Amino acid sequence: MVNNLSEKYKSLIEKSKNPYLEEITFNEKRIIKNIQDISTRIFIDLGAGTGRFSGFLSKIAKKVYAIEINSKYLAKLNELGKNTPNLEVFQGNILDLNQILEGKEIKNPVILLPQNTLSIIENAREMEILSIIKKFLKDTEGELIITFALSNSLKDWGMKFYESLKSMVGEPDYDKIDFNKGIFISKTGYVSRWHSMKEISIIKEFLGGKIIEDYSTRYYRILHISFS
Ligand SMILES: C[S@@+](CC[C@H](N)C(=O)[O-])C[C@H]1O[C@@H](n2cnc3c(N)ncnc32)[C@H](O)[C@@H]1O
Repeated sequence: MVNNLSEKYKSLIEKSKNPYLEEITFNEKRIIKNIQDISTRIFIDLGAGTGRFSGFLSKIAKKVYAIEINSKYLAKLNELGKNTPNLEVFQGNILDLNQILEGKEIKNPVILLPQNTLSIIENAREMEILSIIKKFLKDTEGELIITFALSNSLKDWGMKFYESLKSMVGEPDYDKIDFNKGIFISKTGYVSRWHSMKEISIIKEFLGGKIIEDYSTRYYRILHISFS
């Protein structure tokens, strides 16, 4: 059965008419579509949610592995997986990426962490997750596409964005929100960390690899990195 949260996610995010979200998604998809030999490539959609990208990727790539931790999203994602032969869905933690995909033959994959996915992962775990992804991509000679919302835009478009998501993430908790650090917290405990340009540059340096594209606007920054 498809639950309320995944229905909300679908209507508020997947079908969103928010011009900023639409623009980010447009650029993420533009970068994806430029991947070389895309029809022969394997994509790994980390924190796949309800499958906003997994469904799109399955139509243009050879194979998609979608990993999602939250069972509330999995019902919808599994439903998509059942109707999509080249999409395989796993319930699991990104930290267990290696164990989850153990035994799969994976060469030159593309890992996708689109807008907001890394941001909702606990701060302490961010570098741990990035280390795991880096090692995985070095071993398999893959690519990474990762998007960051910029902390200096949390106060304006970010708050408008969360206002439109109120029924899903809850009312903003202004006592806890920290605009300087780019931290959004709602009264229901939803946390999202928006990154500064400096933090992203530190992450970029840590990841290494070859930069295929580093695209930024006032609101967001997308890195496309190759490890082959
Ligand atoms: C902001 S949503 C993005 C969903 C989807 N990628 C999209 O763009 O629509 C982030 C997703 O990451 C999932 N997630 C968070 N931490 C995770 C973890 N450690 N392992 C796997 N999934 C995780 C959440 O449950 C959520 O579905």
